[in-house]
Amino acid sequence: MKKKLRSRAWFDKKGRDGFIYRAWMKNQGIPDDEFHKPIIGICNTWSELTPCNAHFRELAESVKRGVLESGGFPVEFPVMSLGETLMKPTTMLYRNLASMDVEESIRANPLDGVVLLCGCDKTTPSLIMGAASVDLPTIVVSGGAMLTGRYKGKPLATSDVWRIADKVTLGELDDSEIREMESCFGRSKGHCMVMGTASTMAVMTEALGMSLPGCAAIPAPDSRKKVIAQLSGREIMKMVEEDRKVSDILTREAFENAIVVNSATGGSSNFIVHLLAIAGRVGVELDLKDFDTIGSKIPLLTNLQPAGEYYMEDFYYAGGLPVVVKELQSYLKETPTANGKSITENSASAVNYNDDVLASIDSPFKENAGIVVVYGNLAENGAVIKPAAASEHLLVHKGKAVVFEDIEDYHARINTPDLQIDETSIMVLKNAGPKGYPGMAEVGNMALPKSILEQGITDLVRISDGRMSGTAYGTTVLHVSPESAAGGMLAFVENGDEITLDVPNRSLTLHIDEENLAQRKANWEAPDLGIDRGYIKLYLEHVEQADKGADMDFLRGKSVDMKLRESH
Ligand code: FES
Repeated sequence: MKKKLRSRAWFDKKGRDGFIYRAWMKNQGIPDDEFHKPIIGICNTWSELTPCNAHFRELAESVKRGVLESGGFPVEFPVMSLGETLMKPTTMLYRNLASMDVEESIRANPLDGVVLLCGCDKTTPSLIMGAASVDLPTIVVSGGAMLTGRYKGKPLATSDVWRIADKVTLGELDDSEIREMESCFGRSKGHCMVMGTASTMAVMTEALGMSLPGCAAIPAPDSRKKVIAQLSGREIMKMVEEDRKVSDILTREAFENAIVVNSATGGSSNFIVHLLAIAGRVGVELDLKDFDTIGSKIPLLTNLQPAGEYYMEDFYYAGGLPVVVKELQSYLKETPTANGKSITENSASAVNYNDDVLASIDSPFKENAGIVVVYGNLAENGAVIKPAAASEHLLVHKGKAVVFEDIEDYHARINTPDLQIDETSIMVLKNAGPKGYPGMAEVGNMALPKSILEQGITDLVRISDGRMSGTAYGTTVLHVSPESAAGGMLAFVENGDEITLDVPNRSLTLHIDEENLAQRKANWEAPDLGIDRGYIKLYLEHVEQADKGADMDFLRGKSVDMKLRESH
C-alpha cells in the first residue's frame, strides 16, 4: 500500500470514537477484521424514478463481488439520482446539486476508493464532478444502453421521438398508436439506445480513462456488463493500493482525448458543458474554443443515430469504443487511465467486426464531424453548433428573426396562423439558459411549425441559449453565451431583425445599429422567476454561463481532505 488508508482515521480509533465508528457498522453483521481492509464506496444512482439506471442494484452486487475477492470491504451508498424523462424543469438544474451530494458523501465518510455507477444523462457528469472534487481513487461503471426498440418489425429508438412529434403535429399519428409505440420502445433496462447524451457520457468516461476499456458500449442487459462491473471492483482495489487518483487520470491530455473521441463518435453537444464543468473541478484549463480547435476537424467514424443509422447495441457488436480509439491513434495523447495504461495501449488489440457501423480513419463516414464554436455580437463568449446534425445549405445563412420570449411563448404561438415564418426565417428562443429557464433546458431544437412541415421543409436555423437533446438534430445554434437572462445580446433580438450564421467563418451576427440597440438595452429588465428560497435560489446566485460549463462558481477546484472535525 503506497499510502496509509484514509479509513484508518475512523476505524483504527481507540476509545469511545472507535467504538461508535465500528459498533454501528457491525449491526450489519460485519466481522471485526473487515475494518482493516480498504473501504470501497459504491456510489449508486439506482432509482425507480430513473428507469435508465433501474438495474444498478444488480450491478452494485457485481462490483461488490470484485471488491470482496480482492480483499476489500465494499459499502454501497445512494446519492441523488437524476431521471431525465421525469424531472422538471430539467435535470440540468440539479446536476450541480447531485455533484455536491456526491462530493460531500464521499468526503464525509471513511472511504478509500469509490466506484461510480452512472447511466442516465446527468448521472454521469454529476458523479464524476463530485468525485473529482474529492480526488480519491475512483472508477466508473457505465450502466449501458437498453436494447433497441422494435415496432411493426422496424427499429424504434430515442431519435424517433422527434419524428413522432412532427407526425403528431401533422395529425398523422393518433393516441392509440402512440401508446402502442411506447410499449415497444423500452425493451430492457438501460439508458437511451442511440449516441445521445447518456451514451456520449459513457464514451466520454472511457475516453477520459475513468472506466475500464470497452465499458461504454456493453448494453445494460448483457451479462458482460456484470463482468465489467466485477472487474471494476477488482480494479479499484489496485487503484487504492497504488494511490491512482482522479487527478492522475484527468489530465489536460485526457480532456483533449475526450474531445477527439467525442467528435469521432458524433457525440452530443451536451458533452461540452459537462466536460468544461469536470475540468473546472480538477483545475485543468479547458476553454470552449478547445472543442473547435481540437475536435472540429476530426472525422466521424461511427454510423450511429442520431448522426447515422445504427444503435448502441450494434456499436457493441462491432467492437465498441476500443475500435474507434485504435483508428484515432495518431490524434490521441498517451496519458494513464484507470488501469494504469493509456487508452491507445488498452485498444491495441481491438477488432472491427462491422465496417458498416465503424469506419476506418482512411474512409470515414463524414469529414470534419466535431462541434464548431461560433462567436460574434450575438454570442460574445461563444455558441455551439454540431454541423454533423445540421443541414448543409443552412450552414451559411442570413435570415429574419422569429423571436420567442420564452418556451411558453413558443408553445403558445408556434402553430398560430398569424406567425410570420418561412423557410428563410431564423427561429430565436430567449430565456432557456442556465439562469433564464432556470437550468438550461433541452429546448433549443424547437420543433418546426405545422405550416413549415406541410411544405416538406424539415429544417430551419434555430438559435437559443438552451441545450438540445443528444438525440436531436437540425441547424441549431445552442448554448449562446452570455445568455439572454444575464443581459446577453440575445435578450435584445426582436422579430424581423436580420441575423447571419456563418459556420465556416465561425460567426454569428445580429445586424443592428448602435442607437437602436442602446434603446432596447435601456428598456430591458432581467426576468423575475419568483424563486426566493432553497437550492434554486443558491443556483441562480452562483451558476456560471454555458461557456464555463454552467457549474456553480464556488464548486470549482478540489479539496481532498478538508479539515472535518470528529463527529462526537
Ligand atoms: Fe435516460 Fe435517455 S432518458 S438516457
